[in-house]
Formats: sequence, structure tokens, C-alpha cells
Amino acid sequence: MFRPQLLRQAARAVQAQAPRASFRVRQPIVAYTRPFSYTPARFEKEPEREDLDAFTTAGEPGESGDHEGQYARTQENIRVEYPEEDDLPSSQPVQGRGGFHFKRTLAAFSMEGKVAVVTGGARGLGLVMAQALVTSGADVAIVDMNRDEAQKSAQGLIDTFREENPGSENVPKVTAHFCDVSSPTSVNQSLADIIKEHGKVDNLVTSAGFTENYDAISYPHDRMQKLWGVNVDGTYLYAVAVAKHLMSRESPGSIVMIGSMSGAIVNVPQPQAPYNAAKAAVRHLASSLAVEWAHAGIRVNCISPGYMLTALTKKILDDNPELQKQWTSLIPVGKMGRPEDLMGAVTFLSSDASLYVTGADLRVDGAYTCT
Ligand SMILES: NC(=O)c1ccc[n+]([C@@H]2O[C@H](COP(=O)([O-])OP(=O)(O)OC[C@H]3O[C@@H](n4cnc5c(N)ncnc54)[C@H](O)[C@@H]3O)[C@@H](O)[C@H]2O)c1
Repeated sequence: MFRPQLLRQAARAVQAQAPRASFRVRQPIVAYTRPFSYTPARFEKEPEREDLDAFTTAGEPGESGDHEGQYARTQENIRVEYPEEDDLPSSQPVQGRGGFHFKRTLAAFSMEGKVAVVTGGARGLGLVMAQALVTSGADVAIVDMNRDEAQKSAQGLIDTFREENPGSENVPKVTAHFCDVSSPTSVNQSLADIIKEHGKVDNLVTSAGFTENYDAISYPHDRMQKLWGVNVDGTYLYAVAVAKHLMSRESPGSIVMIGSMSGAIVNVPQPQAPYNAAKAAVRHLASSLAVEWAHAGIRVNCISPGYMLTALTKKILDDNPELQKQWTSLIPVGKMGRPEDLMGAVTFLSSDASLYVTGADLRVDGAYTCT
């Protein structure tokens, strides 16, 4: 018991007696190589440095010109509210993306025999992704707040399929269902409806969501709660409902959450802090649920689109041409994406082509987030 203590005392005694010659020898060398007189005085500026300081934190704000921060700041005066239901523009199914072809491709990309639910599928990106799944062989249930638009889009997908596949006997089943994804009751009712009509669900794509531009200080709290309710709660609630269904069937499945590049970067110049935070939540929800549900064979991934030219973004940019210039100037490929650019990404993550991919975030943003 006393041994370690004795050893420590002995070691201290040896240290106290040891000569420090080695340090004394080195000191003069240091003094010769870096004499104090060579070190510039701490606050004495060289003439050219004084000019450069205007570009550093040593300069006063505005010292190097009124362009400072111009491409890296949000502007409080930009305000875009999500339109009322009646003012939202309709979307059409895209043409020329389906039909028979004789190009060789991996069978694992096929969605034949699968039933997929697409929330927010009545319009925009959701509708195009629903079309990608239909074209790849799935039956699809479109879920949306706008019942009429969802019904019109479901019929539009069937009509487009028939036009592009004349004489086909296997016309996919595409149905429309009302749901407010931010309400647990509405989510459960719509899923029960879908299971009644299709018999099962294998896939989910959560595209219901929206953005608004307000500076954080002025954003009305009720609007912010609605934004988080649809983007975050809505994604979570539908994912949980579908996962419960898959687990009860002891069946594997795939969930694709639509996030945004805004979950990884801060867009400029339009202010949208709550939306950015909501999409960061969606991205991390995908990773977290991927881990939680891996045991059940349920894969959960995220797609983070960049600026995509939907009917709605087109309307916003038509009213603000300067905004379009600023956005495209920040995209390395120099162009906004088309909704069709998500068709391959959603099919890959939904199908067996990505069987070992889960918890991933697939950015479809023209390299915006690389810079
Ligand atoms: N368009 C883009 O540039 C872009 C970029 C990145 C991410 N996103 C994301 O993609 C998703 C789709 O965006 P979009 O541009 O296609 O928008 P959109 O407005 O064209 O379509 C969204 C659809 O969601 C539906 N919806 C809204 N609230 C709902 C609710 N509570 N319950 C059910 N349905 C509801 C709307 O009725 C609409 O049909 C959103 O999550 C959006 O944040 C869009």
C-alpha cells in the first residue's frame, strides 16, 4: 500500500536534484534564431497592411465599400407568403418520360407489384415523383389537402400512362385521398382508406410541405407553427403510420422524405429561418428513423432538392426577376432544376436498386451545396 507513495517521493527527489543543463544549452540558440528585435511591434501596421485591413475584421463595417456581404446575406425586405389554396397554380404530368422502351436497364429499378403513397402528390415535385413511380410499375395513392387537385392529378397520371402505352393491359391503379398531414387523425384515416383500396402499402414519399419568406423577427407565430406542422410533424406522422403498417405485415419497405438543400445551407437573399430549420429536421429524422427501423427492413432516406422550377416557383420568379438572377448565379451548373430531375432519384431510393442505402441524404441541387 505504501510502495507507490514511496516510489513517487523518490522520483520527486531525483527531479529536484537533476541539473537542467539541457535547457540552459538551448536557450542561446533560440535567442540567436529569433531575436526579440526582429518581431514587429504588435500594433504597428505596415503601410500596405493598412489598406488590406479594410477587408478584414480589423476594418470598420462598410470600410471596403457598400458591397460588403452582398452575396452572403439575407434581405429583410423580401417577403413571400405561401398562397391561399385557390391561388396555387396547377401542375400537369410531364410528357415523354414513360412508355415502352428497349434500352437495357437493371431490373432492380422496377417498382412492379409495389403500392406507393405520395403525400403532397397533387402538384409540383410530388406529382412528378408519383409519375416516376407509376412509370416504373407501381400503383400509387396521391395524398393531399386539395381533394379536387389530387383527383385531377390522379386521373392525369392514368391518362398520360394510357397515351404513352397504347394497348397496355396493365394500367396502374392511381387513387386520390384527402389528408392534412399535420393531423394524426387525418393521417390515420387516409392511410386506412388507402389500405382498403390498394390492400397494402410498400412505399412512402413525403412531399407535402411548403416554404415562406419572412424575416425571423416579423414571422407570425401561428404561420411558423403551421409551417413546422406540415413540414416536420406531417413527415413524421405519415412515416410512423406507414412503418406501423409495414411492421404489422412483417414486410420490408422504403420511405423517402423530401427535405431541401435548405436543411444544409442558408439560402440568400430571401430570409426563411424556420423553413431551413424544418428541412434540417427532416434530414435528420430520415437518418434517425433509418437506424430505428433497420431491424424491420424499413429503409428511410432523404432527397434534398435545390432550386426546382415548379409552377409555384415560376410564379414567384416571374414576379421577382432579380431573384432568379441571384439564385442562378449561385448554382455551379448555372441553372435551376426541373421537377423531372427528381424522377431517377426517387425511383432509385424507392426500389430494390438501393437495398443497402438507408439513412442517406441525396442532394439534387446542381452542386449548390458544394460551394
Ligand atoms: N420547389 C422547390 O424548389 C423545392 C426545393 C426544395 C425542396 N422542396 C420541397 O419539396 C416539397 C414539394 O414542394 P413543391 O415545390 O412541389 O410544392 P407545391 O406547393 O407545388 O406542392 C405541395 C403540395 O403539398 C400539398 N400540401 C400542403 N400542405 C399540406 C398538408 N397539410 N397536408 C397535405 N398536403 C399538403 C399542397 O396542396 C400541394 O399540392 C416540399 O416539401 C418542399 O419544401 C421544394
